[in-house]
Amino acid sequence: MRYAIAAVLAAAAIHAATISDADFGKMPDGTPTRIYTLAASGIRARITNYGGTIVSIQAPDRNHQMADVVLGFDTLAEYVANPTQYFGATIGRYGNRIANGLFTLDGVSHQLPTNNGVNSLHGGDYGFFRRVFKPRALPDGGLELTYLSKDGEEGYPGNLNVTVTFHVTDSGELRIDYAATTDKDTVVNLTNHSYFNLKGAGSGDVLGHILTLNAERFTPVDKTLIPTGELLGVAGTPFDFRRLTPIGARIDQDNDQLKIAGGYDHNWVLNKSGNALTLAARVQEPTTGRTLEVQTSEPGVQFYTGNFLDGTVKGKAGKVYARRGAFCLETQHFPDSPNHPAFPTTELKPGQRYQSTTVYRFGTTAPPNIKK
Ligand code: GLA
Repeated sequence: MRYAIAAVLAAAAIHAATISDADFGKMPDGTPTRIYTLAASGIRARITNYGGTIVSIQAPDRNHQMADVVLGFDTLAEYVANPTQYFGATIGRYGNRIANGLFTLDGVSHQLPTNNGVNSLHGGDYGFFRRVFKPRALPDGGLELTYLSKDGEEGYPGNLNVTVTFHVTDSGELRIDYAATTDKDTVVNLTNHSYFNLKGAGSGDVLGHILTLNAERFTPVDKTLIPTGELLGVAGTPFDFRRLTPIGARIDQDNDQLKIAGGYDHNWVLNKSGNALTLAARVQEPTTGRTLEVQTSEPGVQFYTGNFLDGTVKGKAGKVYARRGAFCLETQHFPDSPNHPAFPTTELKPGQRYQSTTVYRFGTTAPPNIKK
């Protein structure tokens, strides 16, 4: 009975959401793009079909003041001119790195573009983050984006039909559902590359944000940020976020893994078995009280602290994005899985359906209880 009521309430929450759209300008080749506003009572997200990109998320603080909590740009032209930050983009066909841009499937080797030193990152030079998706506003206030990635695109085999669906709810959630089918054996690993700053995009670094990650282990990397294959326990390392810990508490410790990445840029192995929606991360920002909880069906999450931001990129409203001015929580299968048979598989075959869900839930906490 309790579940039935919960289901009705959940449905009601989705129905309360609204969607509207506007012109977002033309691509250099003249292709028009749109921007959609998905609104529910506690959250408002703007998403463009260029790159399946989340452009802004407005969320309230503990005094009901709204702020935009993701990095990005005001115009399509700026997204087109700055592709390699991947601000808010849908990432595919493969989130994160594939070593030497090379993998073998069914005995055939596939060479991908190497766009990150010797490796292939985030689907290649023209990954999904640079593609125009076909948009459809849904009657329940959601947004559906579809894209056909042709056989051989960016070196990947098979025609891949991709659908990414976004919903906001009155419980402060932004839910993303990914689905894909193929006509040839292939690999797929989709994610979203939003950069969060719960104080508001462009308001300094995120080192004071307090993080919990639901993970006992992470995948250490080599010098080019490719997993060594080992699953290393976080206990006793700066990678232990099992209890509330400020992001900056140990980020500059004398630790080889932190030095390689210039901070955190690693995949945590979530505590789970199977693909149920489970907690990946919780973040609290003490001054505004904003919180973010991430749930996912995926086995891993890439926690990245914006180590490559350097204050040269000017984003929305002319604000500059400082080094470590945001964090990403990219839910995913592990990086370079096609070259690590022991990792959960990223293979997709004809007749199968790739499905993945991630929910970002925004909320608030009361101020810390300071004793007089
Ligand atoms: C991911 C990678 C990082 C970096 C960012 C984008 O998080 O793991 O190394 O490439 O994307 O700059």
